[in-house]
Amino acid sequence: MNLIQAIEIRKSRRAYDPSPISPKQAALLKSRIDEYNQKSGLSIRFLEDGSFAFSGIRKSYGMFSGVRSLFIMKGPKKDPNLKEKIGYFGELLILEATVLGLGTCWVGGTFDRSGIRTGEDEELVCVITVGNIPSSQSLKERLIYKAIHRKTKSIQELCQLQGSPDAPFPAWLKTAVKAVRKAPSTRNTQKVMFLEKAGILQAYVPDTYKFDRVDLGIAKLHFELAAGGRFELGNGGAYRPSGKERTIL
Ligand SMILES: Cc1cc2nc3c(=O)[nH]c(=O)nc-3n(C[C@H](O)[C@H](O)[C@H](O)COP(=O)(O)O)c2cc1C
Repeated sequence: MNLIQAIEIRKSRRAYDPSPISPKQAALLKSRIDEYNQKSGLSIRFLEDGSFAFSGIRKSYGMFSGVRSLFIMKGPKKDPNLKEKIGYFGELLILEATVLGLGTCWVGGTFDRSGIRTGEDEELVCVITVGNIPSSQSLKERLIYKAIHRKTKSIQELCQLQGSPDAPFPAWLKTAVKAVRKAPSTRNTQKVMFLEKAGILQAYVPDTYKFDRVDLGIAKLHFELAAGGRFELGNGGAYRPSGKERTIL
């Protein structure tokens, strides 16, 4: 399985088998973390046993069970693109873990932050649960999933082309936006939009909620994995196509 196939099958998993993940899987994920920290300036950490952050029923709203390992998603407070990078590299880790057959879930709110160590200059943005999962979801997990997971927005709602709202989308752009539709977002709000003006495509988020920029990083990553090319950092960051997608439209 590659990362694109992982996009297709990933969904948030909240009921884990509490057994530790294998040393081989943990070593691979830790080496990815080192690589991404070096690239981004973040200080993501793998916490083998972070079960304490999910042990209080009140804190987890009873939604998670069997949680053990966590990716601690943190980085320098002073980085203006901290949250976007957390989204981008955290989602890469999620897709890597999916390739390994592990379950994952982004968690911004429903965990206990108090026992997680952070440096003075660091901000703990959120955590990602990662662990062994039963091959099929239990009835309880399916009911929770249904309650949280609302409809997916249409391609036209997520991507708008200037002056030609009814024009057919080029095939490559459709593929990219379809990959964005599969991306996780806070409470499944799918707020990230792609707007084209004068041949330049930009990724925007309203930036009215504390995790909007995390969602922005996640959406940009899904787009890039499907279409190639790179987005500039920032809200409104422009898309720079790779060689094969030199023209936007
Ligand atoms: C930044 C962020 C924070 C999230 N925080 C929580 C959370 O606190 N609790 C939770 O149960 N799910 C949380 N989620 C998971 C979303 O609810 C989930 O991704 C969304 O409903 C889409 O479902 P899917 O991931 O299965 O595609 C979060 C997702 C993101 C991207």
